[in-house]
Amino acid sequence: MIELGVNIDHVATLREARKGVEPDVVAAAKICELAGAHQITVHLRQDRRHIQDRDVEALAQVLLVRLNLEMAAVDEIIGIAHRIKPATVCLVPENRQEVTTEGGLDVASQRERLTDVVAGFHDDGIKVSLFVDPDLEQIDASAACGADYVELHTGAYANAVGAEVEAELGRLRGAAQRTAEAGIVFNAGHGLTVRNLAPVACIEGLNEVNIGHSIISRAIFIGLDTAVREILDILDQYSD
Ligand code: PXP
Repeated sequence: MIELGVNIDHVATLREARKGVEPDVVAAAKICELAGAHQITVHLRQDRRHIQDRDVEALAQVLLVRLNLEMAAVDEIIGIAHRIKPATVCLVPENRQEVTTEGGLDVASQRERLTDVVAGFHDDGIKVSLFVDPDLEQIDASAACGADYVELHTGAYANAVGAEVEAELGRLRGAAQRTAEAGIVFNAGHGLTVRNLAPVACIEGLNEVNIGHSIISRAIFIGLDTAVREILDILDQYSD
């Protein structure tokens, strides 16, 4: 079964628009869990533009499914992750000006430091995923760092038009094959929707997808439970 992590950051984006208490992030997470999501993903950004520290603490206490904390590999957030101990962390690049995570992490240029960060999380029983572009050098570097997973950045595929779509799928397929050769498990995420998920779900070896913006957007019209279930239905069709 290809697993689904639902990223609920944008429930918090809506709440932070008024700095109040609605919509409630924990309630959203529990609806996703009841609908069958395998994991809840949140990104605790350094600028705290959506998810707040108290959200991560509350989710860690009430979730029955895994909590996956997306984060920059900076000391402040690393310290919070060690204290809260989510099941997994997904290390992402973070740039304060960006609207959303733009590119993958450059693992190759910071192998030594990331090897230490990964080992530190493993000492605390936390699994580590590295969010990388579908680039063979980055996959090899991620395996060399001791990461448990790479999450392949599907943003370029999601934004592609015309002939570029097949070219981006080819890059994702090549990267997936490299993860098998490097002995690392691969996940995928960014920009995935009910319309573009199927070709990614077909890629051999896919373990998990993390989907946020499209599920929360559709939830406004069809409800969160249905929005989660329709993604699960697609994954089900392509799971072994
Ligand atoms: N995976 C990672 C590592 C991300 O940074 C994001 C965006 O926060 C997602 C998945 C989800 O992307 P989207 O919101 O476009 O579905």
